[in-house]
Amino acid sequence: MPAPGPPIGILAELTHRCPLQCPYCSNPVDLLKANRELSTQTWTEIFHQAADLGVLQVHMSGGEPTLRQDLEELVAALSARSVYTNLITAGVNLSKDRIKVLKEAGLDHVQLSIQGATAEVTELIGKHKKGFAQKMQTAEHVRALGLPLTVNAPIHRHNIHQVADFIDLALQLDADRLEIANVQYYGWAYLNRSSLLPALEDVERQVEIVEDARARLKGVLNIDFVTPDYYADYPKPCMGGWAQDAFVIVPDGTVLPCHAAQTIKGLNFENAAETPLAEIWDASPTFEKYRGFEWMSEPCKSCPRRELDRGGCRCQAFAVTGDAAQTDPACILSPHHDKLRNVAVEASAESPGAFSYRRL
Ligand code: SF4
Ligand code: FES
Repeated sequence: MPAPGPPIGILAELTHRCPLQCPYCSNPVDLLKANRELSTQTWTEIFHQAADLGVLQVHMSGGEPTLRQDLEELVAALSARSVYTNLITAGVNLSKDRIKVLKEAGLDHVQLSIQGATAEVTELIGKHKKGFAQKMQTAEHVRALGLPLTVNAPIHRHNIHQVADFIDLALQLDADRLEIANVQYYGWAYLNRSSLLPALEDVERQVEIVEDARARLKGVLNIDFVTPDYYADYPKPCMGGWAQDAFVIVPDGTVLPCHAAQTIKGLNFENAAETPLAEIWDASPTFEKYRGFEWMSEPCKSCPRRELDRGGCRCQAFAVTGDAAQTDPACILSPHHDKLRNVAVEASAESPGAFSYRRL
């Protein structure tokens, strides 16, 4: 199926380098070293093509994007084309001066990931000494400079009991938005799945806390809730649907319909350093493969919810069933649904094993 219109957003993974080692990282297990990263000039050319294509927002991510010394230049290139820029950062080793320079270059928004509502949990997960204190400082600088702030809290069994504390922390940091994001199990997170999956009763308690806070803090703090697939009845429209309105570019320029698409065997991916972005968006066989509804089989094919969730996540379908064209097993109508739930029930009943920390 051809592209439905221009893409709205790009997730630009500028580097896989990162000072943190979170075991739930969505980056692939085979990380790209610095010598595979695109040059400033190539990223700038790609961003110009993105603006020509009609892209409205670029989320600059990694790894840790502030490790790119040219980040200011890249932000300025996007800003000059009126593209909204969001910096997704771990917020360590980031000085107020650097944030100020980024703001002056045109940065629009900062999304700060926080691994735990306390220093102990943040440092257990991120493996970065003094990481929590540095993140608090980064949040303070961001707000002092007048930039909007989203706090991103990836949730799993080691911090699910801190959801209420994350809400208090986001208020204390004067964040505009809090993302309570239950971990999605791809990349490193899939590798560490049995050590990260929470128990059902903790998930249910979390839902109550979030719902209560959303009602109580309406107009004060926006709370986005990325629900946990393994205990869901219906899936989420992953990436808003495969190649529907956004895509991902990884550090070496490979263009993906979603961040975990390389886990699906048999797909080929174009590179933005070699093929024009417009051509990839409009005509990539990989983008076309699961776009729209024609690829669907039952139960999705005739399901009234298909426009809502677009059959869920192709990568999760592949990981669990070996076929990316199957219904996402997060869906109660999938014949593999019980498998997903049982993995979570069994894993969370056991003591968590040691993490495989993300390492480059
Ligand atoms: Fe969504 Fe497919 Fe499940 Fe229907 S059957 S709810 S379209 S995943
Ligand atoms: Fe690939 Fe969901 S992560 S479709």
